[in-house]
Formats: sequence, structure tokens, C-alpha cells
Amino acid sequence: MSRTPRVARSLSALRRELDSLRARKATVALVPTMGALHDGHISLVRQAKRRADKVVVSIFVNPTQFAPTEDFGSYPRTWKEDVAKLAAERVDLIWHPDAKAMYPDGFTTRIVPEGPALAGLEDRFRPHFFGGVATVVAKLFAQCRPDVAIFGEKDYQQFRVVTQMARDLDLGVRVVGSRTVRERDGLAMSSRNVYLSADERRVAPTLHRALKELASRLRAGGDMQDALRDGAATITQAGFDLDYLEVRHAETLAPVTQDESGPKRILVAARIGTTRLIDNIAV
Ligand code: PAF
Repeated sequence: MSRTPRVARSLSALRRELDSLRARKATVALVPTMGALHDGHISLVRQAKRRADKVVVSIFVNPTQFAPTEDFGSYPRTWKEDVAKLAAERVDLIWHPDAKAMYPDGFTTRIVPEGPALAGLEDRFRPHFFGGVATVVAKLFAQCRPDVAIFGEKDYQQFRVVTQMARDLDLGVRVVGSRTVRERDGLAMSSRNVYLSADERRVAPTLHRALKELASRLRAGGDMQDALRDGAATITQAGFDLDYLEVRHAETLAPVTQDESGPKRILVAARIGTTRLIDNIAV
């Protein structure tokens, strides 16, 4: 049975709601989102439910992580559908501040993440992005004071940046990554998939296919440079403009050589038409 979640739109309302959620020492999980919720987000909510007594979902399209040339204005906003989906999951609270509540007049403090935020992946193409993400996530953590926060591994570099920030700044939150949820044909779920035309949508799963092929060649001991070159060719021949396809250390995101031990992750970003897709896979 669904249960309409409570909604807080101001910091004072959020504090009241959290005080009542935390009665009897209940633990709280936070799922930060920008709305336009799909099954990937719902799997984060279910993961949150398994890890804490109460679940808070934030819905805030964060202007500071978009460059002026990006899609802040057209980013899908589906409030009614989002609330219905969260009600079906029996989420306890939605934190839905407006930009003024998040960044009041006179706001001047920003987090400037380094380490995985400067790995030369997303940061090379979206230099403003991780500063905006780190600042808003630090604020969300301070506002909601969760015991645990769940992030999708689809945005793998973001997940590493937030994990590092929580550790470096002793934020007292356990950051947990949740496996990427995929469409039946392998395309990673993303709120931006709605931008794909029918033809682009048909081609889009090539990214995941190329990652899977590359990962299995590396696991079998195949040459990394050859496998990367073939993977890049598969992606560009399908019609993508490739931003990067790289094998990195799974935690630090530092470049790795073929023989290096330790966990590895393959990360890709590519553009098709006006849509930019990212994905990744463990080796
Ligand atoms: O992944 C997202 O939806 C956003 O980057 C996040 C973490 C909610 C911060 O705005």
C-alpha cells in the first residue's frame, strides 16, 4: 500500500520532520536525487530501506553543477510522478528545497574537491561539475544528518568524489554505492535518456556492450591498449563522439597499467546527437 511521504520545503520544516523521524533513535538513510525518478532511483531507495529505519529522499535540481551551456533549464522535472513513486516505496520524507533555501542571498562558501575529482575524466569535460556536486552534497549531509547515504554507481566518479569528501571532512555519513540499473538491452538508466531520439536510443546500448567486451578481454589477460582501441572503434563506429574510454583504479581513479594489481574500473563518456551518456563497469 502506498503512503504519501511528508514533504519539507524549508530548513525549519526539515528539522522538525527529522526530529520526529529520529524519535526512538531511528537511523536515517538519505538518497540524494535531482528528481525525474526512474527504476535506478527506486533501487537506491530500496537499498536505503535495507540499511536504515527511515528514508529521506532529496529532490533538488542543483544549479551549481550545471555549466551555463548545459541543460539546467530543460532538465526533466516530474514532481507529481516522483511523489507517487516515492509513496509506492513508502518513503518517509522528501526534502524539496528551492534554490533560495539551498543558496540564500549572501551564500559564498564552496567545496573544491581534489583527488578523484581531478582524475581527468568527467572533470575534463565538465570542470564546474564536482565543485557543484560536492558543495550541495555536503549541504544535504549537514541538513539531513543521515547515518548512511546511497549513491548510484552509474555516476561512478561522483560516487568516488563523495566517498572521499565524507572521509576527508569527517562528515559522519557512510556513503554506499548501489549497482547500476539497466534497461533490458543494457542501457544504464538515466534521467537524461528521455533526450534520445528513437534512432539514438537503438544505438545507445552499444556503450554497455563495448564495456562488457572490454572487461572480459582484460579479465582474460588480453592486452589493455588493444582492447581499449577496439572498444573505442566499436563506440565511434556506432555513431558516438567519444569523450573518453579509460581503465582506472577503482578507488582512486588513478590511471593504471596492464599489470597493476588492485581493483580496476572501465569508464566511458560519449555523445550521440545532443545527448551525453556515461557508463562504467568493474573489471
Ligand atoms: O546524481 C545526482 O542526481 C546529483 O548529482 C546529486 C548527487 C543529487 C547532487 O545534486
